[in-house]
Amino acid sequence: MNAPESEEPPLLRRAVCPGSFDPVTNGHLDIIARASRLYDVVHVAVMINKSKQGLFTVDERIDLLREVTAEYGNVEVESFHGLLVDFCKDRGIPAIVKGLRAVSDFDYELQMAQMNNGLSGVETLFVPTNPTYSFLSSSLVKEVAAWGGDVSHLVPPAVLDALTERLARG
Ligand code: PNS
Repeated sequence: MNAPESEEPPLLRRAVCPGSFDPVTNGHLDIIARASRLYDVVHVAVMINKSKQGLFTVDERIDLLREVTAEYGNVEVESFHGLLVDFCKDRGIPAIVKGLRAVSDFDYELQMAQMNNGLSGVETLFVPTNPTYSFLSSSLVKEVAAWGGDVSHLVPPAVLDALTERLARG
């Protein structure tokens, strides 16, 4: 005899990749893609930082992230304001996935992971960054692009177009 089918909907395994994403780089995308293969749903949470003016607005960053993650099929992009643990609690997310580029990232990331775990029990999983992108950050991409350097191998084509257009405006 077959076991009775459960009435409960299947529990989706969720994780969040948080960040500023001003703009999303190939390094971010590598981590999001890898998380999307490990979890049923990956939430990409774009932090709203009212005290810091970005090159792109939060809505522009979200549009770019949606465009470049569409192919993964299980990535949801949203903004958030306030504590990351509250974003997680509201959506039933038990895990934060972060990329570690180098030892220099570790100190601060460890502090945040321990604080977040102490606040709400949420776990942080560190993924070693692909060495191709270990030097990469949104800030460096913006700086190099602003001085006319080639960043086409560091960001997705949609981001390159947006950067070119934004920097041409001055
Ligand atoms: O891309 P960034 O700027 O390095 O991302 C930093 C981010 C957004 C992951 C971090 O600042 C964060 O989680 N901010 C949310 C506010 C919060 O929860 N602060 C307490 C962290 S212990």
